[in-house]
Amino acid sequence: MSKNKPNKKSRSNKSNFDKSIAVVMKDLISDMSYYDAAIVLNNEIRKILSLDDGDNVAEFTTAKISRYIRGETTIPVIVIAALCQYAKLTGDEFFMKVFEEQGLNWNRSIGRFSNYPLPEGFEYAVIHTAEDTNQLAQEFKECIRQGEIRSKFAYFGTKVTERYIKLMHSGPYVLNEKSANLLKESLDEVLEAVKGNKPIRIISLGIGDGEKDALIIEKLFEKTKGALEHKGALEYYVFDISIDMIKIGLNTVKEKIGEGNYLERLDRKLYQMDFMHINRVLNESISDKQNIFLLLGNTLGNFPEDILLGKINEVLQPNDFLLIDNQLKKPGKLSVDDENRLLSIYADSNEHREYMLAILDRAKISPTDGSISPARLSYDYGIKNEWLRNHNCATVLQEFTITNPITVEFGDESLPLGRNKIITVLYSKKYTKEALTNIVSDIFTVERVFSASNEDYALMLCKKSM
Ligand SMILES: C[S@@+](CC[C@H](N)C(=O)[O-])C[C@H]1O[C@@H](n2cnc3c(N)ncnc32)[C@H](O)[C@@H]1O
Repeated sequence: MSKNKPNKKSRSNKSNFDKSIAVVMKDLISDMSYYDAAIVLNNEIRKILSLDDGDNVAEFTTAKISRYIRGETTIPVIVIAALCQYAKLTGDEFFMKVFEEQGLNWNRSIGRFSNYPLPEGFEYAVIHTAEDTNQLAQEFKECIRQGEIRSKFAYFGTKVTERYIKLMHSGPYVLNEKSANLLKESLDEVLEAVKGNKPIRIISLGIGDGEKDALIIEKLFEKTKGALEHKGALEYYVFDISIDMIKIGLNTVKEKIGEGNYLERLDRKLYQMDFMHINRVLNESISDKQNIFLLLGNTLGNFPEDILLGKINEVLQPNDFLLIDNQLKKPGKLSVDDENRLLSIYADSNEHREYMLAILDRAKISPTDGSISPARLSYDYGIKNEWLRNHNCATVLQEFTITNPITVEFGDESLPLGRNKIITVLYSKKYTKEALTNIVSDIFTVERVFSASNEDYALMLCKKSM
């Protein structure tokens, strides 16, 4: 990112703008000193914009905002969103303050950035609800201490994201193909079943490489020709912890549906956040449309099911649908052949290795500190739900064992990791079809179940239970 030198006018506004941020932050951030908040803000924007150490965030931001006000440029929503986040303001409130500082009146017609939607022409929004860098670092440290890395850290950061995408498209990792094939086969029926009298909004929980979202959007455009032809006709919300994944996924969507459709017909609203906090940003106001939530690509199996499904249920409206898919296991105790078949997807490969090491690298754990064990199956890993007992669920565990004791540093804190400490880097649960139906039915009404011809993958269409 090149450094933007402020011009004369923005320079004269700079101190005002800095003051305005200072006031906003001082007044509104009660649980943080202004100094701490300023550091967090600074680091966040620096990180998001990939600024070099020498670049001055305040100058950069001021110049951009002044040029924006003069209508010469658009300002990246990431900057606004980070500012709003730390100032605890909505976009409208933030702009109002900035405009007041500049002696201008805030006119809503200039932008429509309230309650998080994107202003026109803006590409990316980053809303870190309760996801500030310190908190994330703290959470990651806890994962390492407890020996289980949470799913969100398996996708967070540029290197991790790149390596995940590489793995996803590598030979033995057929899960992606299974999930995409079943979706393709079932999509006509799914869209027939969700037909209602309200316009549709797609809410993607984890965009991944964007292939499946693109399939759905493309089909929707194809099926509802007239209705979805106007500008911004289809609202598309993306929730993902990884900004890099959002970029990759949106790119695929753009390529698949065509740039014209992407820019004209798709109204994109992007949230970079943990979807475990989705209830903080969505509420019953989304009932203006019929929402189709997507939890695809075997994502459920990386989470404590009851907690994730419960969060989605909090925001799901009576007319909405939820589409979930997951790999299945055969009923009962698996034969050695079946176990090996399941594990073969996770067989040792360069792609798997590099992906796992990239996740561990966040804690500066390097390949020489230990070894990656071959993937193994557990029948009792994290099992709380009774439906999942008695071989109804098998969890693939991918672990790293420390062989040379090390101490990893997290800011001011050190965490010693002794010999034989096992870190579960990735886990992925596979359910019997019956168990999956039962755990989903505990919370939702399962309307339709689609399964692959060999019953190794299922796709479920669910509604809110009344
Ligand atoms: C297994 S991939 C599936 C991607 C896509 N749905 C598909 O079917 O290919 C999981 C996706 O969810 C995102 N993700 C994982 N945990 C998350 C969390 N806690 N909050 C937000 N996004 C998360 C990842 O970045 C990734 O895009």
